[in-house]
Amino acid sequence: SKERIEREKEQAAQYVAARIPDHIVLGLGSGTTAAYFVQAIHDRIEAEHLDIECVATSVGTQQLAEQLGMRMLDVNTIDAVDITVDGADVVDEHLDGIKGGGAALLFEKLVANMSKRNIWIVDSRKPRKSLAWQMLPVEVIPFGGMGVFRYLRDHGYHPAFRFQDNGDILATDSGNYLIDITIPKGADLPALAANLKKQTGVVEHGLFLNVCDELVVGGDEVQVTKRH
Ligand code: A5P
Repeated sequence: SKERIEREKEQAAQYVAARIPDHIVLGLGSGTTAAYFVQAIHDRIEAEHLDIECVATSVGTQQLAEQLGMRMLDVNTIDAVDITVDGADVVDEHLDGIKGGGAALLFEKLVANMSKRNIWIVDSRKPRKSLAWQMLPVEVIPFGGMGVFRYLRDHGYHPAFRFQDNGDILATDSGNYLIDITIPKGADLPALAANLKKQTGVVEHGLFLNVCDELVVGGDEVQVTKRH
C-alpha cells in the first residue's frame, strides 16, 4: 500500500540518520525518500548539536535544507564529501542503479562522484534482479536534443522527452531536457553508459554504476547490503 511504502522510506531514512558520524561533510540526496532523511538528520543535528555541514544535490533539496536552517556548503568550495545519502529509482543485486526519476541526476552524480561513501535509501519496490526494461533518463542540452533523440530512436532505445504535468517540456535544474529511454534486455551497462556519454549533446545519464557502497531498504526489519 501507499502508506507502507512511505513508512519504508522513512524507516530507511531514520536508520541511516541515526548512524551518521559527527564532524563530517554530508551530501543530501533528492526525491521523496531523501527528504525524509534531510528531516531526520536535521532533527538529530539539532538535538545532539552535531557539527555537520551539508551539500545539496538539487535546487529542491537546497531549499528544503535552508528552510530547516541547516549549514550548507557550496559544492565548488570543497574537495570531497564524506558521506552522501540519496534515494534511487531502481537498484540491482550488484548495487548498480538508476537515478533521475526526479530529474536531479546531474547534481546527484556530481556529488556522488566526490563522496567517499554513498548510501542509498529505498523502499521495497526499488531492488530488482537486473536493470533490464527499466526507464533510464538521459540529460541533453536543449540545442542538440533532437539529434540525440533521433540517434536513440534509431538504435532501438524507445526515447521519449520528459514533460511536466502541465504539458510543458521539463527543464532540469541546469536548464537541460531529459530523454527517457528503455534499457534493453541483456544490455552491457558499462558499454551503454560510455556510449551515451560520448554522444554530443548528452550531458549525463542516470546509470550509477559502482557508485552505491551501501543499500538500505526500509521495512520493520531494515535490510542493509554493502558492496564488497
Ligand atoms: C532524483 O533525480 C532521483 O534520482 C531520486 O533520487 C530518485 O528518483 C528517488 O526518488 P524517490 O525517493 O522520490 O523515489
